[in-house]
Amino acid sequence: MRIILYLGKGGVGKTTVSASTATAIARSGKKVLIMSTDVAHSLADALGSELSATPVEVEKNLFAMEVNVLAEIRENWTELYSYFSSILMHDGADEIVAEELAVVPGMEEMISLRYIWKAAKSGLYDAIVVDAAPTGETMRLLGMPESYGWYSDKIGGWHSKAIGFAAPLLNRFMPKKNIFKLMPEVNEHMKELHSFLQDKDITTFRVVVNPENMVIKEALRVQTYLNLFGYKLDAVMVNKILPAESKDEYLSSLIALQQKYLKVIDDCFYPIPIFKAKQMAKEVISPDQLHELSQQLFEGRNPMDVLYANDTTQVLEKVNGKYVLKLHLPNVEITKLNVNIKGDELLVDINNFRKSIVLPNVLVGRKTEGADFESGHLNITFSS
Ligand SMILES: Nc1ncnc2c1ncn2[C@@H]1O[C@H](COP(=O)(O)OP(=O)(O)OP(=O)(O)O)[C@@H](O)[C@H]1O
Ligand SMILES: [Mg+2]
Repeated sequence: MRIILYLGKGGVGKTTVSASTATAIARSGKKVLIMSTDVAHSLADALGSELSATPVEVEKNLFAMEVNVLAEIRENWTELYSYFSSILMHDGADEIVAEELAVVPGMEEMISLRYIWKAAKSGLYDAIVVDAAPTGETMRLLGMPESYGWYSDKIGGWHSKAIGFAAPLLNRFMPKKNIFKLMPEVNEHMKELHSFLQDKDITTFRVVVNPENMVIKEALRVQTYLNLFGYKLDAVMVNKILPAESKDEYLSSLIALQQKYLKVIDDCFYPIPIFKAKQMAKEVISPDQLHELSQQLFEGRNPMDVLYANDTTQVLEKVNGKYVLKLHLPNVEITKLNVNIKGDELLVDINNFRKSIVLPNVLVGRKTEGADFESGHLNITFSS
């Protein structure tokens, strides 16, 4: 079983590329579920079918669903929700404020993750493709399984505190079935999902970009965070590439700009494989068109494969009290090396290519002390 998650900035084509991947997998004879965890759904538009919160078979082997987080909260978590607001009201909060505060942070993410866990656990699919929300929200989602234990402990803590101090009042509001019995179970699911997400043979992440400055910067941030969480990036999907030339002056300058950024993408993401799709002259809104796009993108490679099998490309370690950022750069012979920091970016000039890396927060503001290159790894040491 494979889980493939597509990430990237808003509007770059995550939904289109995810649906295109899922269609290609289904048409190769494998059973696939595509799931959208974005609150603003557009998967139904891309597939040209109506979808719901339970999987619908769009065509043979192609199942799709749109996770409806808010409806799920309303249906299944209202008891927990009203319980929290009653605790907050008892502590003196105004009713409306209490209701606002009672939406437990991370709840939406947790619900999306539970759907991924359920689908993975069901054993019904050969592959699960996740069309995620734009980067910021998804990064919170991906950090969640790790922080979940802490989170459910905290909820458990509130519960016992509330029982201790305010039992007579709170008994009136106690949920009919004990939600708190469910917490350890959800915690187990999160742990299991976390192990699926970190298993590099099961889960890979792919970032969708357009040849544009801001979009690339966001994708580099994605790469940094995936590395920090121990998740594997196995492909970069460059979408909406214009034709190589045009007689039109306006288009020609856009094309020149794209060419510049295509080179930046090549340099920055090396050695992760890069897949490309053209800007189509029509909307991509049916399984047939999505399949056509997938043929352009994958060029005969199996979209279900792990597309980059080597180790993580960036590793942050603490050696003798100092942070060392290790970059995997196979097949590079370094003749000229220059390392510079600009804001939250690390610019590494190697021979005639420049790699740019968005620094994790812990490294921002530190200076580099040295860099050495050994058996395909560039190690950059930061001051403590
Ligand atoms: N290669 C392409 N050629 C032509 N149109 C495309 C292509 N890829 C995507 N589009 C169109 O661009 C728009 C945005 O694509 P899409 O919805 O897939 O992006 P997204 O990254 O999922 O956006 P959001 O962040 O809002 O979820 C859609 O109208 C889609 O049909
Ligand atoms: Mg989308």
